[in-house]
Amino acid sequence: MEHSVIINDTTLRDGEQTAGVAFSAEEKIAIAIALAEAGVPEMEVGIPVMGPEECEVIAALTMLRLPARLMVWGRMHAEDLQAASRCGAHIVNLSIPVSDLQIHHKLGRDRAWVLERIDYCVAAALDAGLDVCVGGEDSSRAEPDFLKQVVEAAENAGARRFRFADTVGVLDPFATYRRISALREITGLELEMHAHNDLGLATGNTLAAVMAGATHINTTVNGLGERAGNAPLEEAVVALRHLHACESGVDATRLPAISRLVAIASGRPVPPNKSIVGEAVFTHESGIHVDGLLKHPANYEGFSPAEVGREHRLVLGKHSGSGAVRDAYARIGILLSELEAAVILERIRSHAVHTKQAPRIEDLNRFYLEVSACAGTHC
Ligand code: KIV
Ligand code: ZN
Repeated sequence: MEHSVIINDTTLRDGEQTAGVAFSAEEKIAIAIALAEAGVPEMEVGIPVMGPEECEVIAALTMLRLPARLMVWGRMHAEDLQAASRCGAHIVNLSIPVSDLQIHHKLGRDRAWVLERIDYCVAAALDAGLDVCVGGEDSSRAEPDFLKQVVEAAENAGARRFRFADTVGVLDPFATYRRISALREITGLELEMHAHNDLGLATGNTLAAVMAGATHINTTVNGLGERAGNAPLEEAVVALRHLHACESGVDATRLPAISRLVAIASGRPVPPNKSIVGEAVFTHESGIHVDGLLKHPANYEGFSPAEVGREHRLVLGKHSGSGAVRDAYARIGILLSELEAAVILERIRSHAVHTKQAPRIEDLNRFYLEVSACAGTHC
């Protein structure tokens, strides 16, 4: 059965909280436009209480009238709420710690105080004309029955959404499924999953949350975000589509360009093997894989690179077979005999070991000339 989920991309909030990352106003605007053009329906764009500069950028984003809802982030403090209500965003995420650990050791408060605060601040935000998402910081380590009380308090106060934050990334997909299902049973609120990748499980946890009934998910481009980051937008979009027939409305062919834009603006290069957008993830070298791909691409592709606006690339290297060598030379107009291919393959292997690189066309031409010259002189 096909279903859908709403992506709330937080590249411009949690993504920018990555240590050492700071976007300029122009970069924030360019990223927001690119995300909206790709069909991302909601974005968390900043923290108004940080001050006038942050508010100006948020106001500029709201004035663009992008086809996306804009969320801002704040704590359940009067000054955060005032700042949020002045910058024209559609929805505010009012965050409050909900685990006993953070309630006691970060805030020095108790559970009753948290419930009162939700009641008071949600009402105040509604009075200011904002839609409200209650952000349950450290939800994953909250006592499950208390978390239900938090969600009920949010609903009774008039919030439209509850954000379940796995703030320190300690859940696995099984636990995520159980925790979100338990909330889904007791509330009609929108439920948003906010996963962190400390154990490399952010995407899996995000998918599990959707399966358990989350209506919204947080993502960041290239998985930016605090520490190990958040669930990468590109992974969530493609995995939800392929594994669960779940559509987010995002045009996946735009993901590589958005990834490059954010990599440059954040100063965080994308590793070559980063799923979906990494430079090397559709590149094949080994003889067995290249042979299989040439026979039928699906032999070694779980999905077509064309779906994400890319193409597969075959390169020669230490693990190539002579079939790939002949194929590569045929592409540059040289038909090799089996013997020539076998001799050139040895050159290619030695080149790969010494340079750690695939041979370029100039290298292939040189190997061919050397092998032909050698054959002529019987060396
Ligand atoms: O992960 C989280 O809980 C958050 C906020 C509380 C800042 O991103
Ligand atoms: Zn976070």
